[in-house]
Amino acid sequence: MVKFVKANLSDIADMQNIVGDSVEDGAILRRSDDEVATNIRSYTLAKSGDEIIGYLALHIHSLRLAEIRSLIVSERYRGDRIGSRLVKIALQEAKELGVKEVLVLTYLPHFFKKLGFIEIPKETIPEHKIWTDCIKCIHFPVCNEISLIYKEE
Ligand SMILES: CC(C)(COP(=O)(O)OP(=O)(O)OC[C@H]1O[C@@H](n2cnc3c(N)ncnc32)[C@H](O)[C@@H]1OP(=O)(O)O)[C@@H](O)C(=O)NCCC(=O)NCCS
Repeated sequence: MVKFVKANLSDIADMQNIVGDSVEDGAILRRSDDEVATNIRSYTLAKSGDEIIGYLALHIHSLRLAEIRSLIVSERYRGDRIGSRLVKIALQEAKELGVKEVLVLTYLPHFFKKLGFIEIPKETIPEHKIWTDCIKCIHFPVCNEISLIYKEE
């Protein structure tokens, strides 16, 4: 059975181990251990027993806006709805925190559209996001990621 729990600092080594290929192909951004530690309260893990099999972060940008980052499911667990469940948990967390909009930048717009996200023009994403994150990406500045937003009713 898969359980969903908040991360703690002792999880970071295992979290870094499952991102391998997805970092190399640019689907998710490599984050240093220190950066993950600083933001550890943002992360929700999917666990099978003691094994971390997926996670994501809900990063708060501002009074209105949060962002889903670093969504990953271990290859052998893909297709079992774990990714969808992680996103739904993050959206619920955002709602409880009073966040009105949740942004994601992704190469998988259909995955997020099925979960209620709508596509938005890239020009509307906050500038500090570009300068703190995008600049670290292997695809910067020519990026084909799609921006989508989920709006709380
Ligand atoms: C994206 C990812 C987290 C999805 O996790 P998952 O647990 O396999 O996804 P789910 O089982 O919840 O899939 C839900 C739906 O999305 C579709 N989907 C999932 N991954 C997909 C992909 N890579 N391409 C196209 N569709 C995909 C599924 O087919 C399913 O469709 P359905 O509702 O018609 O059956 C996982 O593939 C992954 O870790 N990918 C590498 C990292 C990455 O790209 N992260 C996204 C960064 S924004």
